[in-house]
Amino acid sequence: MFGHFGEAVVRARHQQSVSRGALARKTGLPVAALAEIERCSSVPSHGVVEKLSGALGMQVDELLLAAGHQPEWLSRLLRTDPAEVIRVLRQIEPNLAEAPSLRESAASRVLETEKGCLFKGDCVGWMRGLDGSSADLVFADPPFNLNKDYGTGVRDDLPETHYFDWSCDWLREAVRILRPGGALFLYNIPKWGVHLASWLSQYLEFRHWITIDIKFSLPIPGRLYPSHYSLLYFTKGGRPARFSPPRLPIETCRHCGGEIRDYGGYKDRMNPKGVNLTDVWTDISPVRHARYKRRKANELPLKLLDRVLDIASNEGDLVVDPFGGSGTTYVAAEIKARRWLGCEIGECGPILERFQQLDREREDLRRVRSKVNTLFTPASLELRRRHGHDTSRYKVDDAEMPAVHEGSLFDWK
Ligand SMILES: C[S@@+](CC[C@H](N)C(=O)[O-])C[C@H]1O[C@@H](n2cnc3c(N)ncnc32)[C@H](O)[C@@H]1O
Repeated sequence: MFGHFGEAVVRARHQQSVSRGALARKTGLPVAALAEIERCSSVPSHGVVEKLSGALGMQVDELLLAAGHQPEWLSRLLRTDPAEVIRVLRQIEPNLAEAPSLRESAASRVLETEKGCLFKGDCVGWMRGLDGSSADLVFADPPFNLNKDYGTGVRDDLPETHYFDWSCDWLREAVRILRPGGALFLYNIPKWGVHLASWLSQYLEFRHWITIDIKFSLPIPGRLYPSHYSLLYFTKGGRPARFSPPRLPIETCRHCGGEIRDYGGYKDRMNPKGVNLTDVWTDISPVRHARYKRRKANELPLKLLDRVLDIASNEGDLVVDPFGGSGTTYVAAEIKARRWLGCEIGECGPILERFQQLDREREDLRRVRSKVNTLFTPASLELRRRHGHDTSRYKVDDAEMPAVHEGSLFDWK
């Protein structure tokens, strides 16, 4: 249950047409303190909750429940006597726990390619029209409720409880359409990652919180400098149907090619295909390289999708991304020979444009792929040679990289 105490107080105040000033007077709290309480999700001291609930004509537990906080006695009752709780609740709400009715999807098809289809419309209705247990991988990069202008009429400044409820609406569909063993990757800021991971854990198996290091964000006054996005990785059931993470080159200095870390006596035992992928990704910039970028904002780098698709899908698998943006997932899926389905509520032009110039995208992906599944890239080997770094103790895989063919095939691992 997502809790936001402040929003519950505001809701109760509005329902009773009580101004903030009037509530402050009734409770004896300073207006500034009440404003702070209304801004925060956390519950204030018990004394303050008592004052507020009394002034709003509510019981303490009633206000806490309205704020999404479940009192301990209720949690215990739900665990020990769920049948009785359901019986009592059904007297109030006879349709309790019935599945939401399937809404007709109003999305219309705007692009059909060899591998996939793009629809324009609201992704919640669209996903309700997709078959259950059909997707091998769902990747989602939704708006983060940071008041960004998507130019689409999408509100990105919802009250926090609305944003959470909306997220649960589309995530419920994502869970439904995943096949057993299928994977869900959810890209968001840590603030939402925390709550959505907890909600998702009810239905899917948690595998990783992948940290994606941000290189170019702005400091926020009064906060630590935000420096990562969360990429949540869940699977349906404990056993992933696919798991083939790529290996990465060892980190080297971009000026001289020297190792950043000392591998000491292990050099000759290192895998020539590279080092294991960790759950901290420092080699992905949060936005695409300017040379390839099509939209002003919110375009993920192809490298990120290349990696996610490597980890959790095979050629021919079905990849679904409900938040198209500029279509990075669809482009990666198309080139890597995965089937794909996508939806975008706003402008689809940038996606169509990318598909008209798929060769540029292939070139970008080829550049990305030259840094995967090898201990050293050709460029770092050359740098090392020029700066006199000894590479002879490593087993270097100097086999020629296979050519990249139209419409396929990147799996030379
Ligand atoms: C963060 S961007 C996705 C960027 C994308 N991953 C990329 O790399 O280009 C989120 C997108 O979701 C779209 N969107 C927001 N709400 C939506 C909804 N209910 N249904 C479908 N698309 C939605 C926005 O218009 C925006 O383009």
